[in-house]
Amino acid sequence: MFDLRKERSKIKVLTLPFMDSNLEAEKRVEDLLERLTLHEKFRLLSGRKRWHTKRIRRLGIKPFTMFDGPHGVRPDREGKIKTTYFPSSICRAATWNVELSNKFGIAIAQEIRDVGAHMLLAPGINIQRTPMCGRTFEYQTEDPYLNKELAVAVVTGVQSQRVAACIKHFICNNQETNRHTSSSEVSERTLQEIYYPAFKGAVEEADAWSIMSCYNKVNGIYGSENEHLLREVLMGEWGFRGFVVSDWVATRYTKSTESCIKAGLTLEMPIAIKYNIFRLAQAYKERRFTEKNLNDNIRRLLRVMFLVGLFDDEDALPKGSRNTPEHQALSREIAEEGIVLLKNESNILPLDMKKLKKIAVIGPTAIKKTHLGGGSSSNYPPYEIKPIIGITEKCKGKVEIINSPSDADITVIFAGLRHQEGMDIEGEDKVSFGLPEDQVSLITKTIKDNPNTIVVLTSGSPVSMIEWIDKVPAVVQAWYGGLEAGNAIANILFGDVNPSGKLPITFPKVLSDSPAHVSERTFPGDENLRVFYDEGIFVGYRHYDTNRIEPLFPFGYGLSYTKFTYENLKLSKEKIAGNEKLVVTADVVNSGEKFGAEVIQQYIRDIESSVERPLKELKGFKKIRLQPSEKSTVSFEIGKEDLSFFDETSGNWVAEKGKFEILIGASSRDVRLQGKFEFLG
Ligand code: GLC
Repeated sequence: MFDLRKERSKIKVLTLPFMDSNLEAEKRVEDLLERLTLHEKFRLLSGRKRWHTKRIRRLGIKPFTMFDGPHGVRPDREGKIKTTYFPSSICRAATWNVELSNKFGIAIAQEIRDVGAHMLLAPGINIQRTPMCGRTFEYQTEDPYLNKELAVAVVTGVQSQRVAACIKHFICNNQETNRHTSSSEVSERTLQEIYYPAFKGAVEEADAWSIMSCYNKVNGIYGSENEHLLREVLMGEWGFRGFVVSDWVATRYTKSTESCIKAGLTLEMPIAIKYNIFRLAQAYKERRFTEKNLNDNIRRLLRVMFLVGLFDDEDALPKGSRNTPEHQALSREIAEEGIVLLKNESNILPLDMKKLKKIAVIGPTAIKKTHLGGGSSSNYPPYEIKPIIGITEKCKGKVEIINSPSDADITVIFAGLRHQEGMDIEGEDKVSFGLPEDQVSLITKTIKDNPNTIVVLTSGSPVSMIEWIDKVPAVVQAWYGGLEAGNAIANILFGDVNPSGKLPITFPKVLSDSPAHVSERTFPGDENLRVFYDEGIFVGYRHYDTNRIEPLFPFGYGLSYTKFTYENLKLSKEKIAGNEKLVVTADVVNSGEKFGAEVIQQYIRDIESSVERPLKELKGFKKIRLQPSEKSTVSFEIGKEDLSFFDETSGNWVAEKGKFEILIGASSRDVRLQGKFEFLG
């Protein structure tokens, strides 16, 4: 009896040079590239079954597999394969902990490996230009420096497991409204100073192996066919050696097959539209693109196939792991460190079980799971600890948990968003800046029943609080905290963990204070679907500071259960010139009674400049942990590049000579130490 499977297994792919894992990678790439027929090259340019490239059996090229997303691996849409649900990216950013981001990258890559995939479609590193963006929770921050530091850490962690990171969405995909057709109209200086840095850093410092082109146009040209962005900037200036993959169906409205090929788009996902075999053949026949263009794009994909070990024995590759206690503990650690204590009047927090008999725990998000609903960043964890469960478990046998505030010593009310329509979801921006009406009335009613009411917000983006913030003694921003969220929140509320999170995004008092919400033009765009980034570089705190607008809670803000004092600022020099470095040191003391962590932030201010510059720009941060009365000296280095702005006239970064100021603070608005120095040019 003829058994096809058995016969096939006898087919031994010749041990050709590219199969030899001892051969230098680029030689393997070139050998394989030469062996591909034109038709096989065409086949490699588009996806199959949503998450894979096509197999080329003749040469033993297996499918290259990629899965979402930024908070957990999602191998299927039914949730049959469970994976760890990590805190949302904005929560991880609120830790300001670079090392933790690196550990996150390693862990999520281990889960990609464990499910037999090769690339993670993450991290999402678009700047949070507006608090209304539906995907704010999926992105990290409003600040380019923090964005870059965290992106580099994640990409380095992911790729240490020989898994490709895919940084997204390149570029200026900062809103969901009309995301497939709008054009982000943005100046060169704004791109260079605000939107490029995290992508540039992930390429230049972490060697990102893949980048996802955005749905939207940038200055009138779609991301997937934008030759300036892809060939000139990404590949030409930054030296990107990986491959560009389109966002899913992002090529739908692009001009042509050749425009995408010549721009440098290697892989069209999830299926062939512009890279349909017949379209490719026709365009090639009519010489609308050359084999050289084609080869450069294919070479990039082959290179990453070798980098992830697609042709190597499994046992030569890093081992995968999934749903492990270590990954779950890491998820909880990120959640705990990302939680931001926004208000804590008369130290009502942490809660002392010895002094409490009954705690009322109410509110819609106390019982809500958040692993689903955000869109492509959803995933299916083996479990998710809801807030009510975390608190009940911790209080078991010690404090009674009830649901009537008037009968309780303390009330904890869980409010916020939960990926329901128009609230923290891909594909649409938020419909309102405030909390849902029913939640506002629940909060105001609860306060009347019990003034000792603590509000815990679970959301992936800033929300308005002006209706009630002055009436409650404490507010905690808990974000979407992953599968251990309930335990993390309980650990913070009862003081097992001292909160150390700092806001990675400004919380405005009212939406009209936001720089993106000056007019229809700036958001969601004009009648021609153009979104004008008129605020330019004045995004986030750069806008609020320069325009002297008081935010509700500023960038970099977060309270602790202890106190930190800053002293003894020292600058190594009064003047620096050329490439000389200035060393800045400061002492920080834990002057409270509890162990705690503090994020010391360093901002610079250009006191005299020929162009408009922000009042301050983040150029360094350090997270330190101190026992009560312990002191630590933190130090930063400042060089010419930290003093520079992008000069559109010359097309270069320029550090103008003159006086600068160093601002060391606990937030962008809580500057504790200042010192001046001069740059001599
Ligand atoms: C989505 C998202 C992108 C995601 C991709 C695959 O539309 O924009 O972030 O990775 O498609 O799901």
